[in-house]
Amino acid sequence: MLTDAMKDRIMVALDVNSKTEAFAMRDTLAESVGWLKVGLRLFVAEGPSLISELSKTHHVFLDLKFHDIPNTVAQAIESAGALGVQMVNVHAGGGKPMLEAASQAAKAFPDMLLIAVTVLTSDTMPKDQALKVALERAKLAKNAGLDGVVCSVFEAASIKEACGQDFITVTPGIRWGNQDTQDQKRIADPKMAVDNGSDYLVIGRPILQADSPKQAAEEAASMMSQAQA
Ligand code: C5P
Repeated sequence: MLTDAMKDRIMVALDVNSKTEAFAMRDTLAESVGWLKVGLRLFVAEGPSLISELSKTHHVFLDLKFHDIPNTVAQAIESAGALGVQMVNVHAGGGKPMLEAASQAAKAFPDMLLIAVTVLTSDTMPKDQALKVALERAKLAKNAGLDGVVCSVFEAASIKEACGQDFITVTPGIRWGNQDTQDQKRIADPKMAVDNGSDYLVIGRPILQADSPKQAAEEAASMMSQAQA
């Protein structure tokens, strides 16, 4: 059965090219997922006006992965907060001063979660090395006052152990059945993701490119609800 709790933990990556396509997908998934993730492609094409429209029906995660000098990142966080998004992110690789500046800027927006990308799930580094780097970066983000991280499913449990159960884990690289892995290297299915401590599952192409995106989203939620965690 599709529970509200599970659907609210799915973030659909709206990696489409126009607001027409974005709104069509939003309408298709209105009842099936809680979050829409707007990334570089869509934001660069359509700009901030799109965000307020999407916010009417869903939580919005602005996935622009800021990585610049501390002052520039802090200003970008302020602009994201002013748009009213519920989640925004930076690259943990930007270092401690950048993370602290971002965290300071985010304090003005208590309803917005600030998270850090640890290691891209497309990165080709071996799993054990990715785990080590992801853990170091997660601790850095935690100490700088961020709310959580983007990581692969394989790192989520260790990160929770090191940074606390309340430290949020957002995991892309979700695939199930015979789906094409495409450019993702460290993939897991929705049940595994929840079993390993993922709070939010980012799912793009498995939903966007499905014959029925709604059915694919509901299948993911149903697999999540089979987890033991
Ligand atoms: O289509 P797919 O499910 O692979 O999409 C994954 C989404 O998650 C993409 O929007 C990608 O930019 C994003 N992402 C990722 N790995 C990260 C951070 C974000 O794949 N570490």
